[in-house]
Amino acid sequence: VSEETLESIKLAFESIAGSKTDGCAVAAGYTASVLAPWGTPLNGNAEAWKNDGTNTFTDQLNSMGMHHDGMHFFPIDGSADDGLLVINHEYIDQGALHPAGATTDASGNRPVDEVRKEIYAHGVAVVRIQRSNGVWSVVDSDPLNRRFTSDSVMDIAGPMAGTDHLVTPFSLNATQTRGTNNNCGNGYTPWGTYLTCEENWPGYFVNTAPLTEEQARIGLSTGGTRYGWDTAAGDATEVENEFGRWNVTPTGADATQDYRNEASTFGYIVEIDPFDASTRAVKRTALGRFRHEGCWPGKLEEGKPVVFYSGDDSRFEYIYKFVSTALWDPADANPSDRLATGAKYMDEGTLYVARFDEDGTGVWMPLTPESVAQDGRTLGSIFGDLPSIILNTRGAADVLGATPMDRPEWCAVSPLNGDVYFTLTNNTRRTEANAANPRIDNEYGHIIRWTEADDMSGFEWDIFVFGSNDSADADTNLSGLTDLNEFASPDGLGFDSRGILWIETDNGSDVADDTNDQVLAVVPSNVVDADGNQTVISAENQEMLKRFFVGPNGCEVTGLAFNADNTAMFVNIQHPGNWPYSDDATEVTPDGTTVRPRASTVVIQKEDGGPIGV
Ligand code: FEO
Ligand code: CA
Ligand code: CA
Ligand code: CA
Repeated sequence: VSEETLESIKLAFESIAGSKTDGCAVAAGYTASVLAPWGTPLNGNAEAWKNDGTNTFTDQLNSMGMHHDGMHFFPIDGSADDGLLVINHEYIDQGALHPAGATTDASGNRPVDEVRKEIYAHGVAVVRIQRSNGVWSVVDSDPLNRRFTSDSVMDIAGPMAGTDHLVTPFSLNATQTRGTNNNCGNGYTPWGTYLTCEENWPGYFVNTAPLTEEQARIGLSTGGTRYGWDTAAGDATEVENEFGRWNVTPTGADATQDYRNEASTFGYIVEIDPFDASTRAVKRTALGRFRHEGCWPGKLEEGKPVVFYSGDDSRFEYIYKFVSTALWDPADANPSDRLATGAKYMDEGTLYVARFDEDGTGVWMPLTPESVAQDGRTLGSIFGDLPSIILNTRGAADVLGATPMDRPEWCAVSPLNGDVYFTLTNNTRRTEANAANPRIDNEYGHIIRWTEADDMSGFEWDIFVFGSNDSADADTNLSGLTDLNEFASPDGLGFDSRGILWIETDNGSDVADDTNDQVLAVVPSNVVDADGNQTVISAENQEMLKRFFVGPNGCEVTGLAFNADNTAMFVNIQHPGNWPYSDDATEVTPDGTTVRPRASTVVIQKEDGGPIGV
């Protein structure tokens, strides 16, 4: 662990008990309010959300999407009370979206209007929010409000742009595609843009012909698709142009005749300029193609490369780092053209994959044609040129001998010392341990941490905390957690600007018998051993990890953002079961009452208006 460079702060709330209700629970002295739930209109083209599922696809296109996930808050003019919240809409709940769930016709095909509504409920929302008298609300019809969906035209940039790999009938020169999908974790850039990440998109495409090697490695579907968008039934030309692309089975003479390459236009980091509604989203292909969970900037230093970390959330997949070719110029922090700055730092650079060695050190291995695989061949000789390597990023990482991890989810970089923290959410299929993933049948997950070497070619790592049920034996409950901080499946993760680390969970283990998903907080610099040296969480210092918030039944807690002065914290409640009952996120839905569940942002504030956590 590298030395802290700023004096650390102390958490000043009491850890709360676990909770299992149809309402949120938050630490004493705090409020939690519902903000911008699914279906909230963003402009005058949407009718107000209706409690019966009858809103049209046009309403959905102009409203908040479903299943809020990663997000970031962009202050306007540095204000603590005004800014843009950018929110991922990862996937949908068809039962809540439609009047009576998803329907099919006699042939098993999906109605076009339902499919459109589902496509428009996915993607990203940019929404202006303001605080007045302590209450945050959406600015209806703000000119910066906008939606990106699984149908929005997007540009392709970086090494994949213009290559044969991405030619489709929609973009014969391989520079555009439609939509971003399954936007899970997120990120942001030092130049004021949002990064959204394409995670579980392979299940939305089907190829009924034999899969390519790359399609097999990423797990493209060979049977149906998740919601049957490929089966949309309606006007033949409309269906072919709008929905045929979800079926990527080759049927024509080449890639200009069918959508065989459509899935290859997904799996990327996508950059959005929230401050300019005239811009398109851009897929930054240099950062690799896989099931991107998120994309977080590393420690920023003048004259050094800009770094982004990204995890591939599947069992036994890898952690990646992108290092820009251009060196950071602080004048780019507030550029006139943010997407041009994105091109400068994100279209040229080197993607690396991590190997965690048994001795607590690690190595970043470049995914370039010159890089030498374990069998002595170069990646160039195995896969071809750089675009061919990026297309099958996982396959290239395999042959380099990257370390298979327990589902890499979110990353957080300490603003105090640049240490990198990464959630490894769980892996119940692990039968063989390695030092960085030391528990077999890892149902509770853990958080790994590393300090980069000065030359960024490697790192030193340790495991900061192990999730566990407090009732598990000491061989499993390695961090000595108690009923006041037991957790499992760490997923969302982030530092605020003061160095408090916030941990969010997406748990399916027996910890759910004692509490719903939650938010915990810890200041890593306060986690010390008996000699006062900074260390990992163990039975002797576990009380530094405190439970701050618990979500309602059925949900996962995800998304993490703060306003400019840390007096408002934003989290997302995804896939709640029977919530929210009112604008007060903590109000418990009465027993026997059923509400149409709505994913929503929750804004947490202190009753006295002060900064969160301290
Ligand atoms: Fe969408 Fe890996 O969580
Ligand atoms: Ca327990
Ligand atoms: Ca996640
Ligand atoms: Ca998860």
